[in-house]
Amino acid sequence: MALYSEKVMDHFTNPRNVGKLDDADGIGEVGNAKCGDIMKIYIKVRDNIIVDVKFNTFGCGSAIASSSMATEMIKGKPISEALELTNKAVAEALDGLPAHKLHCSVLAEEAIRAAIKDYYDKNGIAYDKAQFPDPHDEEEEHAHNDED
Ligand code: FES
Repeated sequence: MALYSEKVMDHFTNPRNVGKLDDADGIGEVGNAKCGDIMKIYIKVRDNIIVDVKFNTFGCGSAIASSSMATEMIKGKPISEALELTNKAVAEALDGLPAHKLHCSVLAEEAIRAAIKDYYDKNGIAYDKAQFPDPHDEEEEHAHNDED
C-alpha cells in the first residue's frame, strides 16, 4: 500500500484555501513542538458562521494536506462545529495519515482553535477558557537544542 492516500496526495498537490485574508476576523498561529513547523489560519466570521478561511504553512506535505482538508471541513460551518473538529477527523477524511505524520494534522486543528479564540478575544465575546487548553500542556517534552 502506498504510504500516502490518494486524497492526501490530491490535497498536497492541489491544496484548497491557501493564502491569507487581509480582512480576517481571527488569526491563529501555532507551531509544532515536534518538528518546529508553523501554521497560520485566517477566518472570516458572519453570524457565527465561518464564511471564509485560508491557511499558510511552513510545514510538510502532510501539514499542507491536513490544513487543506481541515479548512474545507469548517468552511461555511458554525464556529461550534469548527471547534469540534479533531485532527483525527481530518486524518480520517484524508483516508489516513502514516502514524509518524499524525502530529502534522494537529497543527491545523490547533490553528483553527487559535483563530477562533482570537476572533472571540477581538470581539469581546465571552467563552469558556476550558475550550482552549494550552496545547503545549499536552505536548510531551522534547529535547530541543536551544542555543540561549
Ligand atoms: Fe512538521 Fe509535518 S513534519 S508539520
